[in-house]
Amino acid sequence: MKKKLNIIFNSKVWRSVFRYGIPDTERSRSAVVFHNFFLHLHPTRVRKRSIEYTYTWGLGGLSLGLFIYYRVSVPAAYQDMKDLQFVVSYGRFLRNMHRWAAHSMVLVVFLHMLRVFYTNSFRKPKEFNWVVGVILLILTLLLSFTGYLLPWDQLSFWAITVATNMVRSIPFGIGDKIAFILLGGNIVYENSLVRFYVMHCFILPVIIVIMMGVHFWRVRKDGGV
Ligand code: HEM
Repeated sequence: MKKKLNIIFNSKVWRSVFRYGIPDTERSRSAVVFHNFFLHLHPTRVRKRSIEYTYTWGLGGLSLGLFIYYRVSVPAAYQDMKDLQFVVSYGRFLRNMHRWAAHSMVLVVFLHMLRVFYTNSFRKPKEFNWVVGVILLILTLLLSFTGYLLPWDQLSFWAITVATNMVRSIPFGIGDKIAFILLGGNIVYENSLVRFYVMHCFILPVIIVIMMGVHFWRVRKDGGV
């Protein structure tokens, strides 16, 4: 059997793809991780406990998975949303999947933060990654907030009106300025819908993808989980 494995692992094809032979020494096992596109997120050495499912509960990865689901949305004025719900095949399923993924992402990101906090994983050298995480949490909430207006129904219209009125309570005129920039005017109207759509479908997802890249890179550079 070992002979057969040796033939496979030392074959030209195998070596052209994987660049390492049989991972039977510490060095070759590190090479497996180091040279693998998917595995190289992890450092070559990790603590046994940190790869047990019950340590991270996979919450970080789940957050990423829910984010990917989050991008399947149709910008809509009210009529388009009704079409999506009653005319487009599987429209209602898609929309509900998007809505539940959005709600679950907020919950899972929060649980991930709790996991990190209670396992003391924000301490040196991970302080920076904790801060990146806080930024990711704020971006996740903003993604939910901006998506809320897009159905353009009574619920979303008044929810955004209330939320921007809360923003207006920030003193020294700062709140008024932020609300004006958010809404593209003083009331929730067409401009607001376009701004929220652009933020929800382009600006925020791009920023989140970049921040997630930094987040994952730091997980590796800080010595893994
Ligand atoms: C979109 C949001 C987020 C995604 C996709 C994400 C993803 C991940 C992943 C995949 C890991 C690797 C380990 C694991 O699965 O637990 C991780 C680790 C980490 N995350 Fe997040 N995260 C997010 C938000 C946050 C938040 C809100 C915080 C804290 C405020 C945070 C702080 C950290 C820290 C400090 C680590 C290193 C943990 C350790 O070494 O045990 N992350 N994150």
